[in-house]
Amino acid sequence: MKGIILAGGSGSRLRPLTKVTSKQLLPVYDQPMIYYPLKTLLDGGIRDILIIVAPDHAGDFLKLLGSGKDFGCKFTYEIQDKPEGIAQAFIVGQNFIGNDSATLILGDNIYEDTFKDEIASFKTGARIFIKDVKDPQRFGVVEFDENNRATSIEEKPKTPKSKYAVTGMYIYDNTVIEKVKKLQSSDRGELEITDLNNLYLEEQSLDVAFVDGRWFDTGTFESLHEAIIFVRNRELAKKKIK
Ligand code: G1P
Repeated sequence: MKGIILAGGSGSRLRPLTKVTSKQLLPVYDQPMIYYPLKTLLDGGIRDILIIVAPDHAGDFLKLLGSGKDFGCKFTYEIQDKPEGIAQAFIVGQNFIGNDSATLILGDNIYEDTFKDEIASFKTGARIFIKDVKDPQRFGVVEFDENNRATSIEEKPKTPKSKYAVTGMYIYDNTVIEKVKKLQSSDRGELEITDLNNLYLEEQSLDVAFVDGRWFDTGTFESLHEAIIFVRNRELAKKKIK
Protein backbone atom coordinates (compact mmCIF):
# COMPACT_ATOMS: atom_id res chain seq x y z
CA MET A 1 0.00 0.00 0.00
CA LYS A 2 1.37 3.37 -1.06
CA GLY A 3 0.29 6.67 0.52
CA ILE A 4 -0.35 10.00 -1.16
CA ILE A 5 -0.82 13.37 0.53
CA LEU A 6 -2.33 15.95 -1.81
CA ALA A 7 -1.14 19.37 -0.71
CA GLY A 8 -1.79 21.28 -3.94
CA GLY A 9 -4.42 23.92 -4.55
CA SER A 10 -4.22 27.66 -4.10
CA GLY A 11 -5.97 27.95 -0.73
CA SER A 12 -8.08 30.80 -2.09
CA ARG A 13 -10.59 30.60 0.77
CA LEU A 14 -7.80 31.29 3.30
CA ARG A 15 -6.48 34.48 1.69
CA PRO A 16 -4.55 36.60 2.63
CA LEU A 17 -2.80 33.93 4.77
CA THR A 18 -2.12 31.78 1.69
CA LYS A 19 -0.56 34.64 -0.30
CA VAL A 20 2.78 33.97 1.40
CA THR A 21 2.60 30.29 2.24
CA SER A 22 0.73 27.13 1.38
CA LYS A 23 -2.50 26.27 3.22
CA GLN A 24 -1.08 22.89 4.32
CA LEU A 25 1.87 24.63 6.04
CA LEU A 26 -0.33 26.86 8.21
CA PRO A 27 -0.29 26.08 11.93
CA VAL A 28 -2.98 23.94 13.51
CA TYR A 29 -2.18 24.66 17.17
CA ASP A 30 1.45 23.52 17.57
CA GLN A 31 2.11 21.76 14.25
CA PRO A 32 1.90 22.49 10.53
CA MET A 33 -1.41 21.30 9.08
CA ILE A 34 0.20 18.60 6.90
CA TYR A 35 1.58 16.78 9.98
CA TYR A 36 -1.94 15.62 10.84
CA PRO A 37 -2.78 13.78 7.59
CA LEU A 38 0.82 12.50 7.59
CA LYS A 39 0.28 11.01 11.05
CA THR A 40 -2.96 9.41 9.85
CA LEU A 41 -1.04 7.60 7.08
CA LEU A 42 1.81 6.63 9.44
CA ASP A 43 -0.65 5.33 12.05
CA GLY A 44 -2.28 3.38 9.22
CA GLY A 45 1.02 1.53 8.70
CA ILE A 46 2.00 3.29 5.44
CA ARG A 47 5.70 4.11 5.03
CA ASP A 48 6.09 4.95 1.32
CA ILE A 49 4.47 8.35 0.81
CA LEU A 50 4.14 10.68 -2.16
CA ILE A 51 3.63 14.35 -1.36
CA ILE A 52 2.01 16.31 -4.17
CA VAL A 53 2.47 20.07 -3.89
CA ALA A 54 1.68 23.20 -5.90
CA PRO A 55 4.70 24.87 -7.58
CA ASP A 56 4.64 28.06 -5.46
CA HIS A 57 5.91 26.81 -2.10
CA ALA A 58 7.33 23.42 -3.09
CA GLY A 59 10.70 24.15 -1.48
CA ASP A 60 9.09 24.85 1.89
CA PHE A 61 7.57 21.36 1.99
CA LEU A 62 10.97 19.83 1.29
CA LYS A 63 12.52 21.95 4.03
CA LEU A 64 9.85 20.93 6.55
CA LEU A 65 9.57 17.23 5.73
CA GLY A 66 12.88 16.24 4.09
CA SER A 67 13.52 12.67 3.05
CA GLY A 68 11.15 11.19 5.62
CA LYS A 69 13.97 9.83 7.82
CA ASP A 70 12.82 11.90 10.80
CA PHE A 71 9.35 10.39 10.49
CA GLY A 72 10.47 6.78 9.90
CA CYS A 73 9.23 6.75 6.32
CA LYS A 74 10.24 7.64 2.78
CA PHE A 75 8.90 10.67 0.94
CA THR A 76 8.69 11.22 -2.81
CA TYR A 77 7.66 14.63 -4.15
CA GLU A 78 5.71 15.64 -7.26
CA ILE A 79 4.37 18.98 -8.45
CA GLN A 80 0.75 19.48 -9.49
CA ASP A 81 1.19 22.37 -11.94
CA LYS A 82 -2.40 23.59 -11.75
CA PRO A 83 -5.20 22.86 -9.28
CA GLU A 84 -7.03 20.55 -11.71
CA GLY A 85 -8.70 18.29 -9.20
CA ILE A 86 -8.12 15.75 -6.48
CA ALA A 87 -8.42 12.80 -8.85
CA GLN A 88 -5.50 14.18 -10.87
CA ALA A 89 -3.28 12.95 -8.01
CA PHE A 90 -3.41 9.50 -9.61
CA ILE A 91 -2.09 10.80 -12.93
CA VAL A 92 0.63 12.87 -11.28
CA GLY A 93 1.44 9.89 -9.05
CA GLN A 94 1.15 7.00 -11.48
CA ASN A 95 4.86 6.15 -11.61
CA PHE A 96 5.03 6.26 -7.82
CA ILE A 97 1.99 3.97 -7.46
CA GLY A 98 3.35 1.39 -9.92
CA ASN A 99 1.32 -1.81 -9.49
CA ASP A 100 0.22 -1.11 -5.91
CA SER A 101 -2.94 0.12 -4.21
CA ALA A 102 -2.96 3.64 -2.85
CA THR A 103 -4.43 5.57 0.07
CA LEU A 104 -4.94 9.23 -0.73
CA ILE A 105 -5.42 11.79 2.02
CA LEU A 106 -6.00 15.50 1.51
CA GLY A 107 -3.40 17.73 3.14
CA ASP A 108 -6.07 19.81 4.87
CA ASN A 109 -8.06 16.97 6.45
CA ILE A 110 -7.65 16.18 10.15
CA TYR A 111 -8.98 12.97 11.70
CA GLU A 112 -9.23 12.01 15.33
CA ASP A 113 -9.45 8.31 14.44
CA THR A 114 -6.75 5.98 13.22
CA PHE A 115 -7.49 3.63 10.32
CA LYS A 116 -5.00 0.77 10.68
CA ASP A 117 -7.56 -2.01 10.23
CA GLU A 118 -9.38 -0.29 7.37
CA ILE A 119 -6.11 0.11 5.47
CA ALA A 120 -4.67 -3.34 6.35
CA SER A 121 -7.85 -5.20 5.37
CA PHE A 122 -8.22 -3.46 1.99
CA LYS A 123 -7.97 -5.79 -1.02
CA THR A 124 -9.75 -4.53 -4.16
CA GLY A 125 -12.15 -1.84 -5.34
CA ALA A 126 -12.34 1.39 -3.36
CA ARG A 127 -13.06 2.36 0.22
CA ILE A 128 -14.32 5.82 1.23
CA PHE A 129 -14.94 7.26 4.69
CA ILE A 130 -18.09 9.23 5.45
CA LYS A 131 -19.21 11.39 8.37
CA ASP A 132 -22.53 13.01 9.27
CA VAL A 133 -22.16 16.78 9.14
CA LYS A 134 -24.27 19.91 9.63
CA ASP A 135 -23.31 21.44 6.27
CA PRO A 136 -23.28 18.61 3.69
CA GLN A 137 -23.59 21.05 0.75
CA ARG A 138 -19.86 21.86 1.26
CA PHE A 139 -18.84 18.28 0.41
CA GLY A 140 -19.36 15.18 -1.70
CA VAL A 141 -22.61 13.70 -0.34
CA VAL A 142 -23.68 10.02 -0.39
CA GLU A 143 -27.26 9.05 -1.16
CA PHE A 144 -28.62 5.78 0.29
CA ASP A 145 -31.56 3.57 -0.68
CA GLU A 146 -34.03 2.04 1.80
CA ASN A 147 -31.59 -0.84 2.47
CA ASN A 148 -28.86 1.63 3.43
CA ARG A 149 -26.87 0.90 0.29
CA ALA A 150 -25.08 3.83 -1.32
CA THR A 151 -26.73 4.65 -4.65
CA SER A 152 -24.93 7.83 -5.74
CA ILE A 153 -22.50 10.52 -4.68
CA GLU A 154 -23.07 14.17 -5.55
CA GLU A 155 -20.38 16.86 -5.40
CA LYS A 156 -21.48 19.90 -3.37
CA PRO A 157 -25.23 19.48 -4.02
CA LYS A 158 -27.49 22.48 -3.33
CA THR A 159 -30.10 20.13 -1.86
CA PRO A 160 -28.14 17.25 -0.29
CA LYS A 161 -29.90 13.87 -0.26
CA SER A 162 -28.33 12.90 3.08
CA LYS A 163 -26.17 14.41 5.84
CA TYR A 164 -23.25 12.10 5.06
CA ALA A 165 -20.18 13.85 3.67
CA VAL A 166 -17.38 12.01 1.90
CA THR A 167 -14.27 12.88 3.91
CA GLY A 168 -10.83 13.44 2.44
CA MET A 169 -9.30 9.98 2.68
CA TYR A 170 -9.78 7.32 0.01
CA ILE A 171 -8.30 3.86 -0.62
CA TYR A 172 -8.13 2.56 -4.20
CA ASP A 173 -6.89 -0.54 -5.98
CA ASN A 174 -4.56 -0.21 -8.94
CA THR A 175 -7.43 0.22 -11.46
CA VAL A 176 -7.67 3.79 -10.15
CA ILE A 177 -5.08 4.89 -12.71
CA GLU A 178 -7.04 3.69 -15.75
CA LYS A 179 -10.33 4.93 -14.24
CA VAL A 180 -9.00 8.46 -13.71
CA LYS A 181 -7.88 8.56 -17.34
CA LYS A 182 -11.53 8.03 -18.38
CA LEU A 183 -12.79 11.05 -16.40
CA GLN A 184 -13.80 14.34 -18.04
CA SER A 185 -13.09 17.66 -16.33
CA SER A 186 -16.06 19.12 -14.47
CA ASP A 187 -17.53 22.61 -14.96
CA ARG A 188 -14.99 23.93 -12.42
CA GLY A 189 -12.18 22.50 -14.59
CA GLU A 190 -11.28 19.67 -12.21
CA LEU A 191 -11.00 15.88 -12.34
CA GLU A 192 -13.49 15.23 -9.56
CA ILE A 193 -12.85 12.61 -6.88
CA THR A 194 -16.64 12.22 -6.71
CA ASP A 195 -16.78 11.13 -10.39
CA LEU A 196 -14.04 8.59 -9.66
CA ASN A 197 -15.92 7.23 -6.65
CA ASN A 198 -19.07 6.97 -8.75
CA LEU A 199 -17.19 4.78 -11.27
CA TYR A 200 -16.39 2.34 -8.45
CA LEU A 201 -19.99 2.60 -7.23
CA GLU A 202 -21.31 1.68 -10.71
CA GLU A 203 -19.00 -1.38 -10.64
CA GLN A 204 -20.38 -2.22 -7.18
CA SER A 205 -16.87 -2.20 -5.78
CA LEU A 206 -17.17 0.87 -3.51
CA ASP A 207 -17.03 0.14 0.20
CA VAL A 208 -18.41 2.90 2.44
CA ALA A 209 -16.97 3.12 5.98
CA PHE A 210 -18.04 5.49 8.76
CA VAL A 211 -15.76 7.88 10.62
CA ASP A 212 -16.57 7.62 14.35
CA GLY A 213 -14.37 10.36 15.79
CA ARG A 214 -14.08 14.04 14.93
CA TRP A 215 -13.11 15.08 11.40
CA PHE A 216 -12.16 18.50 10.04
CA ASP A 217 -11.68 19.83 6.52
CA THR A 218 -9.69 22.93 7.39
CA GLY A 219 -10.18 24.78 4.10
CA THR A 220 -12.11 27.72 5.58
CA PHE A 221 -11.38 30.08 8.47
CA GLU A 222 -14.28 28.69 10.50
CA SER A 223 -13.32 25.04 10.08
CA LEU A 224 -9.62 25.81 10.62
CA HIS A 225 -10.47 27.59 13.86
CA GLU A 226 -12.62 24.68 15.05
CA ALA A 227 -9.81 22.23 14.26
CA ILE A 228 -7.28 24.32 16.21
CA ILE A 229 -9.54 24.37 19.27
CA PHE A 230 -10.06 20.61 19.03
CA VAL A 231 -6.32 19.87 18.73
CA ARG A 232 -5.47 22.27 21.54
CA ASN A 233 -7.97 20.69 23.94
CA ARG A 234 -6.76 17.20 23.03
CA GLU A 235 -3.10 18.13 23.59
CA LEU A 236 -3.86 19.85 26.91
CA ALA A 237 -5.85 16.82 28.06
CA LYS A 238 -2.89 14.55 27.23
CA LYS A 239 -0.55 16.75 29.29
CA LYS A 240 -2.93 16.58 32.25
CA ILE A 241 -2.85 12.77 32.28
CA LYS A 242 0.97 12.79 32.40
C1 G1P B 1 -13.15 17.97 -1.68
C2 G1P B 1 -14.01 16.98 -2.46
C3 G1P B 1 -15.28 16.64 -1.68
C4 G1P B 1 -14.92 16.15 -0.28
C5 G1P B 1 -13.99 17.16 0.43
C6 G1P B 1 -13.48 16.59 1.74
O1 G1P B 1 -13.78 19.21 -1.60
O2 G1P B 1 -14.29 17.53 -3.74
O3 G1P B 1 -16.01 15.63 -2.37
O4 G1P B 1 -16.11 15.97 0.45
O5 G1P B 1 -12.86 17.47 -0.39
O6 G1P B 1 -12.64 17.49 2.40
P1 G1P B 1 -12.94 20.60 -1.79
O7 G1P B 1 -11.71 20.47 -0.96
O8 G1P B 1 -12.65 20.68 -3.25
O9 G1P B 1 -13.88 21.65 -1.32
